[in-house]
Amino acid sequence: MNEGNGIPPRALELHPARLLNMVETETLGRTVVLYDRTGSTNAVGVGAAELGLLEGTLIVADQQTEGRGRKGRSWFSAAGKSILFSLVLRPAREEEGLTSLLALSAARALDIICGKVWIKWPNDIFVEGKKVGGVLAERRGEVVIIGLGLNVNESPEDFPEELMRGAISLKIASGREHDRGEVVKSIVESFEEAYRRWEGSGLGLFTPDIMARLLYLGEDVVLASGGDVFDGRVRGITSEGYLRLVTGEEERVFSCGDITLRKD
Ligand code: BTN
Repeated sequence: MNEGNGIPPRALELHPARLLNMVETETLGRTVVLYDRTGSTNAVGVGAAELGLLEGTLIVADQQTEGRGRKGRSWFSAAGKSILFSLVLRPAREEEGLTSLLALSAARALDIICGKVWIKWPNDIFVEGKKVGGVLAERRGEVVIIGLGLNVNESPEDFPEELMRGAISLKIASGREHDRGEVVKSIVESFEEAYRRWEGSGLGLFTPDIMARLLYLGEDVVLASGGDVFDGRVRGITSEGYLRLVTGEEERVFSCGDITLRKD
């Protein structure tokens, strides 16, 4: 039935016509572009930003070959099994907190699938102590391209060896496969509502929910930030989404970095 239409059957669940019909939003996802295979949906968005893309344009890929992660890292995804999308935004305020907001929106949408979904500061999405997704935002002038990578239908053996221990998918967590179109719908709808409120008031409204999901809250961690390493205890986040870390007698606030649990 699907032969010769250029779209692999597995990608039909992400077909723009289907998503347009399913996603109930006002702005986000009202224009949808699907790639069977592309380097990076964020790169597509960044490349096209100057062409005047409409706010809310949703760029989706069934497969990414050069997925970008935070800090110049790469983002692995198994072909046809992940959610890989980028949204084109023209936010009415500085994008501070926006990545945490998308991580939170995804977490809220995913609770129903796999129990409590956690956020590892600043914007990793965690289930059962393992990473299920991540967010990357890139700004070009007025435009912010915000991308989400989410492991959905991967089995353990789909992950490369170096990721196997730390990565999980919705399928592994819930014991069943998921329709990626349905999952995109719930995340984009959740994000649209949060985004509108964030444009008005910032991240402060959302910090209680982020705190309630914050991995390592109250625990001793090692933070790598700006070329330095800090030992401390996680106290929470500020209303901008910065990390509050207690180091010795004082509290310090960090806008970026990577935390790992201290092992000793
Ligand atoms: C991270 O955890 O380091 C962030 C990963 C973000 C990956 C997504 S996949 C869709 C979009 N396109 C990319 O190249 N990266 C983001």
